[in-house]
Amino acid sequence: MYIKEEIKRVAKDKKAIILAHNYQNEDIQEIADFSGDSLELSQIAATSNAEIIVLCGVHFMAESAAILAPDKKVIIPDITAGCPMADMATPDELNKMKMKHPDAKVVTYINTSAAVKALSDICCTSSNALKIVERVDAKKIIFVPDRNLGSYVKRFTNKEIILWKGYCPTHDLFTREDLLTIKSKFPDAIVMVHPECRPEVIDIADEVLSTGGMGKFVAETRHKKIIVGTEKGMIFKLKSIAPDKEYIPATDSFICSDMKKINFEKLYNSIIKEETVLTVSDDIAQYARKSLSKMLDLSY
Ligand code: 13P
Ligand code: SF4
Repeated sequence: MYIKEEIKRVAKDKKAIILAHNYQNEDIQEIADFSGDSLELSQIAATSNAEIIVLCGVHFMAESAAILAPDKKVIIPDITAGCPMADMATPDELNKMKMKHPDAKVVTYINTSAAVKALSDICCTSSNALKIVERVDAKKIIFVPDRNLGSYVKRFTNKEIILWKGYCPTHDLFTREDLLTIKSKFPDAIVMVHPECRPEVIDIADEVLSTGGMGKFVAETRHKKIIVGTEKGMIFKLKSIAPDKEYIPATDSFICSDMKKINFEKLYNSIIKEETVLTVSDDIAQYARKSLSKMLDLSY
């Protein structure tokens, strides 16, 4: 296919690396130099030698790459690809919460704006949230913004966790009844869900994993039939890791429309025109970088 070869050629000429989140459309994941979860994408952005980073994902992912790689040009093929959960926490609201709990430290999910990260003590992703909460030097934690991930972490720590009211509309739509229905159709299948799912869904799942964790799990498990409780794009990634298994989408409506905004044409245009460049003002970036870098340091 001509456009695919052309994207590869231009990316090579410009010393650009294409990164894709695990929820991206199949063709985007295929052409990417690397596809992964939020933590993996930020680790690569922080260490890559490329001159341009093309981030096929949502806004906060490209913004995090821009913060972690300030000497590189970071571009996103569709600047309107956002994350509704990230919009559920504002700097003003966080400041108010911090004033209410002056003895707490703020652990902020990477699915947030740079301005919210800048007001936080440390960031986390779904793959390291519990580790970060445990390692933070405080008994009381304000966990921003995902109430579902926060209450999942709460199950395994003695620390006091103050939950925010945010959630992922894609994962939160998936109900316990939906899961019971699909389980009854495939009684011999094992169930894995993302920690952005509701607590009552998590209660009846076998595994609770980040998208990167799901990839590792299918590579190792002996189970042959797996119900996948997260965005449907993940199934392409899982098939590429362990093609011998059967993957059953937990529901057909498990789609993040923002993730799906990126396509070949937009990717091609963005590399050719070097648009849209993500920039974060220095006064915010310097503090947001501290929160992200602390997370990377504590993730190993
Ligand atoms: P992961 O870090 O697990 O890939 O999750 C990112 C995300 O946005 C899930 O909805
Ligand atoms: Fe945000 Fe949910 Fe989409 Fe992930 S799946 S990017 S949390 S809206």
